[in-house]
Amino acid sequence: MDLKVTGLVVEPEEAVLAAPRTAEPLTAEQVDRLCEDLASQGWTVVDARQALGDELLAALRDEALRLREADAMQRAGVGRGTELILDRGIRRDQIAWLEGNSATQVALFSWLEALRQSLNYHLYVGLRRFEAHYAVYEPGDFYRCHIDSFRGRASRVISVVIYLNPGWQQDQGGELVIYDRHQPEQALTCLSPTAGTMALFLSEEVPHEVLPASAVRLSIACWFRQDEVPLPL
Ligand code: OGA
Ligand code: MN
Repeated sequence: MDLKVTGLVVEPEEAVLAAPRTAEPLTAEQVDRLCEDLASQGWTVVDARQALGDELLAALRDEALRLREADAMQRAGVGRGTELILDRGIRRDQIAWLEGNSATQVALFSWLEALRQSLNYHLYVGLRRFEAHYAVYEPGDFYRCHIDSFRGRASRVISVVIYLNPGWQQDQGGELVIYDRHQPEQALTCLSPTAGTMALFLSEEVPHEVLPASAVRLSIACWFRQDEVPLPL
């Protein structure tokens, strides 16, 4: 192992880079249940901690925190390209797109790619690719109720959010609230953003919201898409 040692202190970046980042697929039971839930109700929650592993989750968290500290996050907007609106009344998080340019991201990408194939196999959804970004919500930040994709564009089809906050306490807030797709005023679940928890839902159909938290809240948002060509970000 090639750790850089300064005095007696191992520099955290090097220690993280040296950490193994193997992730296991979800179990067959987990895949069955998540596909059934997506097909019947349009959303599901999976405990992916075992599959992703604490080391990969910690490496992802460290990478997000490093980007935050390096001011490499950008204000998140609503819409895309020339239609992008930076509306702090709607969302306040900061994001950084993952580009697969670190061992940590490569490990996550291969795990997400396996998930893409398994969703296609079980649900015949024809997902062609995915995009993902880190999101940092500073204390008090929120994302008002929204859907992730406009109907009929076949762009974002399935949304996945993976949380990166070990030891998150319920009273710290920051829940993802999922609303009924047919009765958007009705909240169906309120999910604490604990490390390894993963939410999946139909991007065009399921209204959801991020409530403010009292601590920094880290996550990865990922969208599986049916279109081929990446659009300008
Ligand atoms: C999003 C989103 C949910 C979350 O980025 O579109 O809804 O819990 N994120 O972070
Ligand atoms: Mn969303």
